[in-house]
Amino acid sequence: MSVTDTFGRPLRDLRISVTDRCNFRCIYCMPKEVFGRDFQFLDRKELLTFEEISRVARLFHDRFGVKKLRLTGGEPLVRRNLERLIAQLAAIPEVDLTLTTNGSLLVEKARALRDAGLTRITVSLDSLDDKVFRAMNDVDFPVATVLEGIEAADKAGLRPIKINMVVKRGVNDDSVVPMARFFRGTGHILRFIEYMDVGATNGWRMDDVVPAKEIIARIDAELPLEPAHPNYRGEVAKRWRYKDGQGEIGVISSVTQAFCRDCTRIRLSAEGSLYTCLFATQGFDLKPLVRGGRSDAEIVEAVEALWRVREDRYSEIRTAGTAGLKKVEMSYIGG
Ligand code: GTP
Ligand code: 5AD
Ligand code: SF4
Ligand code: SF4
Repeated sequence: MSVTDTFGRPLRDLRISVTDRCNFRCIYCMPKEVFGRDFQFLDRKELLTFEEISRVARLFHDRFGVKKLRLTGGEPLVRRNLERLIAQLAAIPEVDLTLTTNGSLLVEKARALRDAGLTRITVSLDSLDDKVFRAMNDVDFPVATVLEGIEAADKAGLRPIKINMVVKRGVNDDSVVPMARFFRGTGHILRFIEYMDVGATNGWRMDDVVPAKEIIARIDAELPLEPAHPNYRGEVAKRWRYKDGQGEIGVISSVTQAFCRDCTRIRLSAEGSLYTCLFATQGFDLKPLVRGGRSDAEIVEAVEALWRVREDRYSEIRTAGTAGLKKVEMSYIGG
């Protein structure tokens, strides 16, 4: 059975946040003034257990045909024994199971993740310049450790590796071309993400955004590029390849070229709420159903009802006014 929303978009991908905690405080995601010592993270008892998550994921697969699962956070690798969850999810037939991480714990964990059945991995990295990187993660974390983590993931076979770089004007836009040079020819796919107005705490301004077009132009001037076709309908990143055959890059232009028309993603928070848009102000609390002894059919019915009335297209209707809405935080719902 498949289900479509009010714009005819099917439900295809499930993104699962396993924790709202993170060991970084990236300035565009978890500003320290807000996510300081006193910040109330979710209590452990509120988190869905691995069994509860697996049950939900399996229902999405069995009843709606969802084959793409992505684990996110916060930082998913700070959740203890995550390999156990990965093993449970990897047992779902024909599933593409991946994870987005800041890379800080990969040296220790890459092997175990792969052994548990993780297919591939995406690592966030905003600069190769140690000073810039430390300032952006705001916990003084060195770039070298993330690079070692990427290497460990590569050795473990978590390929192809995608590298996500959020570009913020005046902060790390000078790192765009060096990053392209560094990852060219490695087989890893570097993607540049336009800085977005997710959440309500990062003080986003349009002036801080470096449009995808400009990013591509800057790279193309030094390393000639040509457009490549999407791998599948609704691919978030627009693909470009180096003319000399040294690989490809991607740009994720949620701000300047919205891609809501093909958005097939649903997000599950660590405490069991479903969000049908990254920019939602409200979720649908699935936990009472999952914990309340409801049948699979009842859970499926609730999800179906939610998706059928979905009319999200935030990036297409973004204005200066909408940026100030009390939206859910990226660290709570994942990327
Ligand atoms: P694969 O093609 O499966 O590797 O994944 P992907 O292209 O969806 O990439 P990924 O999940 O790593 O998403 C990359 C980034 O794009 C996320 O971290 C978000 O910042 C952004 N992104 C992903 N999905 C959406 C979405 O639905 N809306 C918006 N506005 N941004 C998104
Ligand atoms: N704009 C764009 N990307 C963001 N990410 C986190 N916050 C933002 C934002 N405001 C990215 C992270 C990571 C992924 C989960 O989302 O860098 O790659
Ligand atoms: Fe943590 Fe990722 Fe947010 Fe940075 S972007 S604070 S690594 S969740
Ligand atoms: Fe999907 Fe919302 Fe992102 Fe548009 S803004 S692509 S509807 S998650």
